[in-house]
Amino acid sequence: MIRIIHSDITTLPVDAIVNAANERMLGGGGVDGAIHRAAGRELFEACLAVPEVRPGVRCPTGEARITSGYRLPARWVIHTVGPVWRGGTHGEPEKLAACYRNSLALAAEHACRSVAFPCISTGVYGYPLEPAARIAIREVRDFLSRPPAQANGEREMEVVFCCFSERDAALYGHLMEIAKSR
Ligand code: APR
Repeated sequence: MIRIIHSDITTLPVDAIVNAANERMLGGGGVDGAIHRAAGRELFEACLAVPEVRPGVRCPTGEARITSGYRLPARWVIHTVGPVWRGGTHGEPEKLAACYRNSLALAAEHACRSVAFPCISTGVYGYPLEPAARIAIREVRDFLSRPPAQANGEREMEVVFCCFSERDAALYGHLMEIAKSR
């Protein structure tokens, strides 16, 4: 099940919230800054403990890592790193799609029943909202349509698109209607 809301992701009592992080995974601005402020210093310590895969990189673009949520209402934080928009011909769509797929896979591995995503890469990283939203909706719908999402026969995972502006939420809603009508 997919829900679209206009809210601050740090307030959501879901099993996991997804953080639009950077490869260093030690915080930043935007939703990354908000999540670290709300989760508290233990989140920073947990990120610091995530091994670097190469100097200065704990989570390569397109991949995801999971930590506890500490002071957040959410139990888990799934950190994913979206692509910086460079015009769209440098693999950005594929990397952004991988962020959603890898985050959903990690959530499923941790038996999450509810996961909230921000609009990854559409802030500081400059990804245009509409193409990014189309990728987000496509990847989540694909994931929820596959058996593992209902594998344990219980209620399927609920995915929340947590938009930080009414405008973003309205666009997601519009694109969802189009996707459903296909
Ligand atoms: N709740 C939900 N969404 C939020 C919040 C919040 N509290 N704060 C910001 N957002 C939204 C932004 O409005 C945007 O729609 O999250 C989306 C992603 O924007 P950014 O946070 O700028 O993330 P991104 O574009 O992926 O850039 C990542 O920015 O903050 C740094 O450390 C981060 O270097 C990384 C880069």
